[in-house]
Amino acid sequence: MSKVYVFDHPLIQHKLTYIRDKNTGTKQFRELVEEVAMLMAYEATRDLPLMETTIETPVSPAKTKILAGKKLGVVPILRAGLGMVDGILNLIPSAKVGHIGLYRDPETLQPVEYYCKLPSDVAERDLIAVDPMLATGGSAAAAITFMKQRGAKNIKLMCLIASPEGVELVQREHPDVDIYVAAVDECLNDHGYITPGLGDAGDRLYGTK
Ligand code: PRP
Ligand code: URA
Repeated sequence: MSKVYVFDHPLIQHKLTYIRDKNTGTKQFRELVEEVAMLMAYEATRDLPLMETTIETPVSPAKTKILAGKKLGVVPILRAGLGMVDGILNLIPSAKVGHIGLYRDPETLQPVEYYCKLPSDVAERDLIAVDPMLATGGSAAAAITFMKQRGAKNIKLMCLIASPEGVELVQREHPDVDIYVAAVDECLNDHGYITPGLGDAGDRLYGTK
């Protein structure tokens, strides 16, 4: 069974409060999502391997550490996942970015795929799939399936807010994928929205409603 990490860092929780607030406008919402994604990426990359190196400081030689060159990839689930990418790339500029286009059919709540482009060496990369919302879990589970069908082997899922149902579905369908979230909310409402949640992440990021 995969692990679920809920980040309780005060900066993440503080910023999440303003992301949730309906009075937060598009510009600030976008900035906050990017900032929280960066802070979450910092926490989610704790297990990156290091190797020893020697450099010269202005004072003396120093044995020190650098990243062991693990290849990383970030895969936003369009469109709302795009809002998290730049924050992560601020920390990991060498990561490649793949894109998966999915939308949730408003009637059936089932995910519909319309685009998929992943790095050609996807099998060698540690991948972080990103989407602000893990609601029914259908979109994230389908995106992870597409990634695996194209050769991905090592995948983490990073979301701002999850529902218990979404976590359960992803864990059931992808027990090898650890889940990183800032909050697990109470439930889904009758329209499949996370409650209390933050509303429609795509609309709030891009001002489409
Ligand atoms: C939202 C969100 C997730 C999905 C979550 O996207 O960004 O991708 O819904 O719901 P689920 O867990 O029940 O599948 P949406 O379908 O609204 O598309 P958009 O990002 O293009 O607005
Ligand atoms: N998609 C969203 O953007 N928000 C939700 O609460 C559920 C699905």
